[in-house]
Amino acid sequence: MITTLIFDSSESLSHYAAMSIIANAQRAIAQRGIFSLVLSGGSTPQRLYELLATPALARQIEWPKVHLFWGDERVIPPSAEGSNYRQAKLALLDHVPLPAQNVWRIKGELLPRDGALDYAKQLKQAGGLQNWPRFDLVLLGMGGDGHTASLFPNAPIVETQSTRAVMAHYQDRPVNRVTLTSPVINSARQVWFLVTGSAKAEMVRRVLCGEGSPMAVPALRIRPKNLTWLLDQDAAQLT
Ligand code: 6PG
Repeated sequence: MITTLIFDSSESLSHYAAMSIIANAQRAIAQRGIFSLVLSGGSTPQRLYELLATPALARQIEWPKVHLFWGDERVIPPSAEGSNYRQAKLALLDHVPLPAQNVWRIKGELLPRDGALDYAKQLKQAGGLQNWPRFDLVLLGMGGDGHTASLFPNAPIVETQSTRAVMAHYQDRPVNRVTLTSPVINSARQVWFLVTGSAKAEMVRRVLCGEGSPMAVPALRIRPKNLTWLLDQDAAQLT
């Protein structure tokens, strides 16, 4: 099922997302005793992380029962500017009582292949009998080129039956990346795309219309049972 929610601003989108994460966390913890959340990098979720860290919202989540993962990471040290972990640490992790063992960090300080192998081992550990956990919620952004997490156009597609949970992405961008693969993301209970800004409107239109190939438009590889697009009016203007 695909749901599209359109907000009048990035701020109202962030507030809605924060309240919905609280509701999802409370429901997951009541049902299974744990809430597993996969964070995205990029600028779009920054405000969401800041809101979740505010005392009024943070106290509504039982953080010792929350486990945080990342959809991707840049191959740089966790203390470096641009680290997705550092971004979440400064905005959220440093402000909530989340036990260290509940933070499943992609080790950007390792070489790309080693970081991918290490994270696959972490996911196997977190997944129990499975190769990875069935995440309660995966947050994703999308670039104007249709990339999501660090699945970039014309990057190798990991077949659905693959057990490859994590892969390194060597690219011409400033730094290499480590990313979850689409089978891991698609097995989640819920996946949300948070996309704002008019620069992404055409790609939002293409993806929502199913235009293009998954090889050229990696966001098309994201086909979970429950997919929600949270868009501001600018990003949704062509839909
Ligand atoms: C990252 C993200 C990446 C991001 C998009 C959108 O590590 O940067 O995984 O996929 O979500 O590039 O980025 P913005 O939110 O900054 O537009």
